[in-house]
Amino acid sequence: MSGIKIRGTGKGVPAGVITNADLEGLVDTTDAWITSRTGIQLRRRCDGQSLTDIAVQAGRQALTRSGVTPEDIGVCIVATLTPDTLVPSAACCLQRELGLPEDTLCFDLNAACTGFLYALHTMECLLAKSPRKCGLVVGAERLTRVTDWTDRSTCILFGDGAGAAVAEWREDFPSICAVLGCRGDQELLRLAGPGAPEPCYIQMEGRKVFKFAVEVVPLCIDQVLAKAGKTVEDVDFFVFHQANARIIDLVVKKYHIPEEKYYKNLARFGNTSAASIPLVLSELEEQGKVGPGSRVLMVGFGGGLTWGGAYVEFA
Ligand code: UT7
Repeated sequence: MSGIKIRGTGKGVPAGVITNADLEGLVDTTDAWITSRTGIQLRRRCDGQSLTDIAVQAGRQALTRSGVTPEDIGVCIVATLTPDTLVPSAACCLQRELGLPEDTLCFDLNAACTGFLYALHTMECLLAKSPRKCGLVVGAERLTRVTDWTDRSTCILFGDGAGAAVAEWREDFPSICAVLGCRGDQELLRLAGPGAPEPCYIQMEGRKVFKFAVEVVPLCIDQVLAKAGKTVEDVDFFVFHQANARIIDLVVKKYHIPEEKYYKNLARFGNTSAASIPLVLSELEEQGKVGPGSRVLMVGFGGGLTWGGAYVEFA
């Protein structure tokens, strides 16, 4: 037995707010349509803030809450598809801003909305070999930079934000039991890179992605529970990627997950891709809903296509 537990979490919330009413002024949509079809009412936007700024805010809070100092960190991974610059990576910027030791392994990881779970699994593997057994995992996005504000099918969904978790690896901790997957697909969800002939905006076949999500989330739950040797009742809290309230509602109904065991904050943040899961974790810790000993099952899905689930305990 060996693995990681979460010691503490944090969030970085941008100052700007985009309301449904603001979007009514931009595209042919209504507050009623957005609320009923997605559950989203507000999204945050970095106004005068960089991705690094909000990632630092989240990382610093996670360090403080976990009682871990920058000198204890051996690995820093930022899951993002919207770094301020490709080089230096967001993780390298965090090294500087948080004062992490110069021999800290720092890099960005892109698995779209599943990024935080890919990063958590990667963190568990790397900490096993690291001389320092604590790691910082951040999910951070500035999706408002890559949103087409003329496309009503996508611009109502996305927002900016950051969440972070400090993980500690120990010989006597259980593994996080991650299940991760990928199916290369160019059609359903796409974001071209700089220099591509097409514009650098998120393009999505929403209805098809919705169908993919409602199929893959139960698969992840089943596979993670089987791998961890747990049942739904053994889990204290379910944390789902915040893409659409209707996806979460369908899943909790299928598994008879009671209201006090899951959480939705997409009304206030929209879909923040890699940041969405750690943002939820951070708010749960803030509200005392998770803490030492809590057993959490997380599920993410998104572009790539990618998907994943992980069972994790809080130290
Ligand atoms: O994080 C990555 C993973 N992403 C997701 O999980 C997203 C999954 N997909 C979704 O959340 C939903 O598919 C959307 C919210 C994107 C769209 O909701 P929907 O209920 O699937 O709508 P739809 O695309 O089937 O469109 C239904 C109707 C269409 O009109 P017609 O053809 O029926 O006349 C759309 O043109 O709604 C129309 N529509 C809108 N109307 C008002 C689409 N977007 C809007 C809008 N306001 N913003």
